[in-house]
Amino acid sequence: MKTVIGNWKMHLGIRESVALARGIVHALRGKEQIPELVVCPSFTALSEVNKVFARSRVSLGAQDVGFDRVGPYTGAISTTMLTDVGCQYVIVGHSERRRFFGETNELVARKLESIFDSKLTPIFCVGESFSHQAGDAEKEVQKQLDCLREADFPKNKKMIIAYEPVWSVGTGKPAAIHATIDMIDHIRELLISRFGISEANLRIVYGGSIDPKNAHQYLRESAIDGVMVGGESIRLQSFEKIIETAVEVITAQST
Ligand code: PGA
Repeated sequence: MKTVIGNWKMHLGIRESVALARGIVHALRGKEQIPELVVCPSFTALSEVNKVFARSRVSLGAQDVGFDRVGPYTGAISTTMLTDVGCQYVIVGHSERRRFFGETNELVARKLESIFDSKLTPIFCVGESFSHQAGDAEKEVQKQLDCLREADFPKNKKMIIAYEPVWSVGTGKPAAIHATIDMIDHIRELLISRFGISEANLRIVYGGSIDPKNAHQYLRESAIDGVMVGGESIRLQSFEKIIETAVEVITAQST
């Protein structure tokens, strides 16, 4: 199985989101085997997009969440509010949250704790910030993954890790395929051996400048469970093409 996640970031209003969501549902018609599909619109569009995805094979995700279930937190959205509006997934620790909104590993750990306490599945983003010397990137990612220990990760819960090197997000410079596989193998090993996460509950995807041309390189690798797409996920044709590529890979692997 492959997973394809669309992260619409702060690009689309309600009307555009609904139109794009309809386009995606339409594109899936007649396809038997499809990847696990998660689309993450902005908060204001969640309710309307949820209606479009109802009875479709696309799951709804949010792009962020607060760290407590209820309370005096002006501007925050809780896990309960997200499930209420139809979300099954939530992105947490995205590099743009860390970079532009000052999110720290401590805050990400609190958010994860809240997610683990809810019905939501986390899409936990990790990735090194710069082109490091060998070994340094692993250390930075390891530190981010330590949030799982602080958040007391429940071992039977499903979890998606999005490996997204910061320098590859929105830059048109995706990470080299071998380096990506090495890092994903490293993350998988660490999570299984250190945190006792069962392999069946764990999916590790790659994100960062995925487009219709390069998606196949990542999707065809058995070590990589899928892709998380930002910029190219708000263009229907591009996203459709990436889904199509995942369908081809799944079909080829099952024959
Ligand atoms: P990008 O973003 O595809 O635009 O690089 C990826 C992401 O932010 O998840």
